[in-house]
Amino acid sequence: MQNEEVQVPQRIQHPWPEILRRARDPRFIADCAQRLAMEGWDLISPSEFSSLYRQIRNYTMCSNARLRGLYRGVRYAVHRDIPGDVVECGCARGGSAALMGLTIRQLKSKRKLWLFDSFEGLPAPTIKDPDFELADLFTGTCIGTLEEVRRLFHRLNLADDAEFVKGLFRDTLPHAPLSKIAVLHIDGDWYESVKVCLESLYDKVVPNGYIQLDDYGYWKGARRAVDEFFAERGIEVNLRTLDYSGRFFIKPPSTLPVSLPQQPNKMKLRSEDPVEWRGI
Ligand SMILES: C[S@@+](CC[C@H](N)C(=O)[O-])C[C@H]1O[C@@H](n2cnc3c(N)ncnc32)[C@H](O)[C@@H]1O
Repeated sequence: MQNEEVQVPQRIQHPWPEILRRARDPRFIADCAQRLAMEGWDLISPSEFSSLYRQIRNYTMCSNARLRGLYRGVRYAVHRDIPGDVVECGCARGGSAALMGLTIRQLKSKRKLWLFDSFEGLPAPTIKDPDFELADLFTGTCIGTLEEVRRLFHRLNLADDAEFVKGLFRDTLPHAPLSKIAVLHIDGDWYESVKVCLESLYDKVVPNGYIQLDDYGYWKGARRAVDEFFAERGIEVNLRTLDYSGRFFIKPPSTLPVSLPQQPNKMKLRSEDPVEWRGI
């Protein structure tokens, strides 16, 4: 995967049919309404999450529900002593990563926070993205520069425990000196980006670690990458829904070595959440 030539197709269809189809999807409309309501509430609520949210909301495009997922994921890892670093692939202007950093500090924990990004905006999608025509409209968008993200982290006093890694995932992730990951946030939108994140980092996530996938419901390439990765490994995970797009799961405590399942479909592992999730 990492060494494959990335194929960028010519646009073959107009993206409007796909845009209209999505805009008419009742689940999408309900999700937007819920997002607005939750964001309004977090502007005035005295809750701990809301006070952290207000510090980063201008630096993120993640929905409130997905940010809550990250907040709970970090709290879960700290409270349950899940060992390892906190990693984000796709940070743009740094808001969701900063939220995780603020949560770590609020819990008086010490975790290294890794931020991987090209810091040059979204690369082009590829032929493996089924909604290529729509996705391609976003090529080069979602830019956060490294300087901008560093400034945010300095302003919030988070820079000392943060590691910024600039470059395309396929160039940086396979060589990153990471040993254990407790929380992994994958927010790279396209098939190729999400697949390389899973291929490079999934095995470094410790058993019972928390993994959040930002784009599973929204971008077909991201969903394809996730489904394909688990089918190849013969692992069935219990994906939980955060909102229209976001999903999370707890890594199964043990997975078979990749070489073992000769007939992956007959050897599926069902990941029932190994730890009690609620109440965190
Ligand atoms: C949707 S944005 C991330 C949003 C962010 N988490 C937030 O809080 O707003 C996606 C980011 O992933 C980065 N990205 C996507 N694919 C990438 C790749 N293959 N290599 C490096 N960065 C990539 C883009 O540069 C962009 O900043």
